[in-house]
Amino acid sequence: MDAATGGEIGRALTTGEFQGRPFELFWTSIADRTWRARRLVLAGAGKRAPGGDMPRKLAAAVGLAARQRRVARLAIAVREGADAVEVAQATVEGLTLAEFNVGTYKTMDPQPPAVPIWTIVLPAGVDVNQAATAAVAKGRVLGECSNLARGLANEPGNTLTPKEFASRATAIAADAGVRVEVLDERQIEALGMGLLLGVARGSSEPPRLMVFRHDPPGATGPVLGLVGKGITFDTGGISIKPADGMERMKDDMAGGAAVACAMRAISTLGAPIRVIGVVPATENMPGGRAIKPGDILKSAAGKTVEVINTDAEGRLILGDGLWYARQLGATHLVDVATLTGAVVVALGKVTSGLFGTPDEWVARVQRAANRAGDRVWPMPLFDDYRDQLKSDIADMMNTGGRPAGSITAAMFLKEFSGGLPWAHLDIAGTAWADEARPYLPKGPSGVAVRTLAELALSMGEP
Ligand code: BES
Ligand code: MN
Ligand code: ZN
Repeated sequence: MDAATGGEIGRALTTGEFQGRPFELFWTSIADRTWRARRLVLAGAGKRAPGGDMPRKLAAAVGLAARQRRVARLAIAVREGADAVEVAQATVEGLTLAEFNVGTYKTMDPQPPAVPIWTIVLPAGVDVNQAATAAVAKGRVLGECSNLARGLANEPGNTLTPKEFASRATAIAADAGVRVEVLDERQIEALGMGLLLGVARGSSEPPRLMVFRHDPPGATGPVLGLVGKGITFDTGGISIKPADGMERMKDDMAGGAAVACAMRAISTLGAPIRVIGVVPATENMPGGRAIKPGDILKSAAGKTVEVINTDAEGRLILGDGLWYARQLGATHLVDVATLTGAVVVALGKVTSGLFGTPDEWVARVQRAANRAGDRVWPMPLFDDYRDQLKSDIADMMNTGGRPAGSITAAMFLKEFSGGLPWAHLDIAGTAWADEARPYLPKGPSGVAVRTLAELALSMGEP
């Protein structure tokens, strides 16, 4: 490559023009006319050992930069190594993530730059065999499903009402062979879901409950239940949020979108186990019939809840959602939610909070997240925290005060897990990038889609 560029690479390395720092890009021309490529780009991976989540991020960064430069064709060479096939999959994921276009309501803006046609070049030792082809196909599906979730999360609250969310999200899944069902407010009432109905009371838009089923013929054993928070807009309700930044609350359904789009990936990639997805969807509004602090709601599971703060609405709708996933036969539960501001204080904007029990189940979800390139970190759920939810008048309160806010939220959800293996991902910090990063533009991230899919795909294994 150095020869093809007329020694440009060597020169840039000696002068320090290119240092290989993470996401540093060095573009140079290829002088050798026998090469079919005009330009070469080196992408810095930093000093860390190769592998991990770097290949995916690097591919995304290169994909985004290539689009900016209006590159029409792009080939990425995967380096030699035992994990070449894995790296190829991650590279495809990254390139596909770079195809996402954010913001489509501008009437005066030019079209976003076209997407390059790409080629993955495997190292000489690796056959383009079935495994390599399957890995590339899998990466493509995982990237596409992440982008579909990003598209839903980006949609404003006035277009993406609970009804519209249900119709778009179920179409995305049904298209790939997932069995879908949408329950309306009457059916939700018949199930006794007082928590979901309580949150929905303040809005003139009716709530919906989406149910997704992946039923591979002959599957026995574990049934994975995925539950996603589907608040299409969170004003806070009567405990109303400050105006500053409230527009961001259009993405409060990112967990629900992740579940719907993961169901699509799970079906497309043929996960070997049964998977049930449940997404309760509603607005959280302060209408004249809205729930008030002090109100008591009865959940479908039978437990009563004293609503202290109507802005702690996610845990309410998820409580009924978790119960319903168990009703439908789930044996293992994972919920995903933009649940608390407190998790952003604890872990910032790059890491999702991971909660749950028992430890083996939580570790399994963590491994799936690591493979998927979604950063998660385990948080404690000691029984002592349960005291913060004690109510004088009902089985529990819906908030536990400021200390350990993301943990007490998870403790609330645990009450609805029925003792099953259960994990909870708090994606309040990770669902939306406030600042552009080299590998992720400002906007929705599609977090958790690939984690949930990787989890389902790996559940046939011990
Ligand atoms: N949707 C919010 C959580 C959130 C905050 C997501 C910031 C993304 C960014 C959730 O419904 C909420 O309002 N949580 C409250 C809970 C509190 C009232 C106990 C919060 O975190 O302030
Ligand atoms: Mn809220
Ligand atoms: Zn919310």
